Amino acid sequence: MAVSSAVAGFRDLGFAPVPEVIFTHLVYNTAPMKDSEQAQDNGCAIRRGEVVSNVSLCREHYRLTIVVSGEGLGERSELGSGFPVPVAGQFVHLSPQRRAPSCDRMDESAPAIDSGGAMLRRAFSIAGYRTTANGAEVDVIYRVVGVGTRWMATLRAGDSVSVLGPQGNAFPIVEDATSALLVAGGVGLPPMLFLAEALRDAGRQTVAICGAQTVDLLALTMDERVPPSPSGREATASADEFTERGANVVISTDDGSLGLRGHVGEALTAYCDANPVEPDDVVVYTCGPERMMEFVAEFCDVRGIRCYVCMERAMACGTGMCQSCVVPVRDEVDAEGWRYQLCCMDGPVFDASDVLFAQPSS
Ligand SMILES: Cc1cc2nc3c(=O)[nH]c(=O)nc-3n(C[C@H](O)[C@H](O)[C@H](O)COP(=O)(O)OP(=O)(O)OC[C@H]3O[C@@H](n4cnc5c(N)ncnc54)[C@H](O)[C@@H]3O)c2cc1C
Ligand code: FES
Repeated sequence: MAVSSAVAGFRDLGFAPVPEVIFTHLVYNTAPMKDSEQAQDNGCAIRRGEVVSNVSLCREHYRLTIVVSGEGLGERSELGSGFPVPVAGQFVHLSPQRRAPSCDRMDESAPAIDSGGAMLRRAFSIAGYRTTANGAEVDVIYRVVGVGTRWMATLRAGDSVSVLGPQGNAFPIVEDATSALLVAGGVGLPPMLFLAEALRDAGRQTVAICGAQTVDLLALTMDERVPPSPSGREATASADEFTERGANVVISTDDGSLGLRGHVGEALTAYCDANPVEPDDVVVYTCGPERMMEFVAEFCDVRGIRCYVCMERAMACGTGMCQSCVVPVRDEVDAEGWRYQLCCMDGPVFDASDVLFAQPSS
């Protein structure tokens, strides 16, 4: 039986965001959602982050580096146990509130920060992770698109941020594949940087295919001595962030201001046509606008290439409570042939062949 419902609004009670669930439209299957070990592991781990730096990378894009103390903000938040080592694909849920909505109590000592009216946490892929003498350092790269990210752009070194995470599952490193293609559109780039590190450490040959609307919205440091291929047919050591991680890049811009003129799917096609490989030898990982990921998923389906997508659904709670982040997936066992999974708990990484990009009717 299908039930119609929707999360239409949230009110903030000072604790975890409480959904005011007004059931109107959002349809979900009553079939049980897949158990996610990751989801069970996550619990409610909220820690204090302290801003190390918040630097502008290009127009509208910043890199925020936070040192996350082992100290939790509530009894259930693994006091003193430290920030778990994240894996590529996972994200942090950052609170734009001075008083962190922890499980149990408020963070009274955090300095006041004007949240600009943003109340719910915002999700950001982990772009980098290091351990330092002070604790775990996490990088996120974000584009300013609204009230929460505008607030983030005001953060300065020493400011406090409430950090929930690391949340979600990981990009799988497929045993029998020797190479990887990372396909990133716009702010789909950050998880690909962290993934490139994991692939380098696993000994995979990696090429990153990165697209942006125009060159000044490309959050990469370009090496002027090594221009990207204008045809997209060659991968070059043009972007420092990927060169440092052992990967060459193909760049596309919609307006042709750098690399191939066109969208990132065209760059993927040009590169693969010029550099054919056995489908079993390569895995494609992608993150970016949903229409772009749908194109990449179809491309891989036609060519018999395994593909994983990192879905960026709007998330209210990030902990499996509110059901605002559902992703329809194929399910042969289900009577209707599909069911919902939660982006925050079962994802954000999904096997592309499972995802139904068009909402199925029910
Ligand atoms: C798992 C995950 C990882 C993410 N990683 C990154 C990242 O690394 N860098 C980054 O810049 N952003 C990332 N996002 C998107 C980010 O969460 C949103 O951009 C952010 O919440 C916007 O907050 P805001 O208050 O500034 O915008 P709002 O004022 O809430 O919204 C402004 C505009 O952005 C749109 N929007 C809001 N949230 C999303 C979303 N999740 N996906 C698509 N559009 C959205 C809204 O529809 C609206 O048009 C990620 C999202 C998820 C779910
Ligand atoms: S964001 Fe609330 S259930 Fe996923």
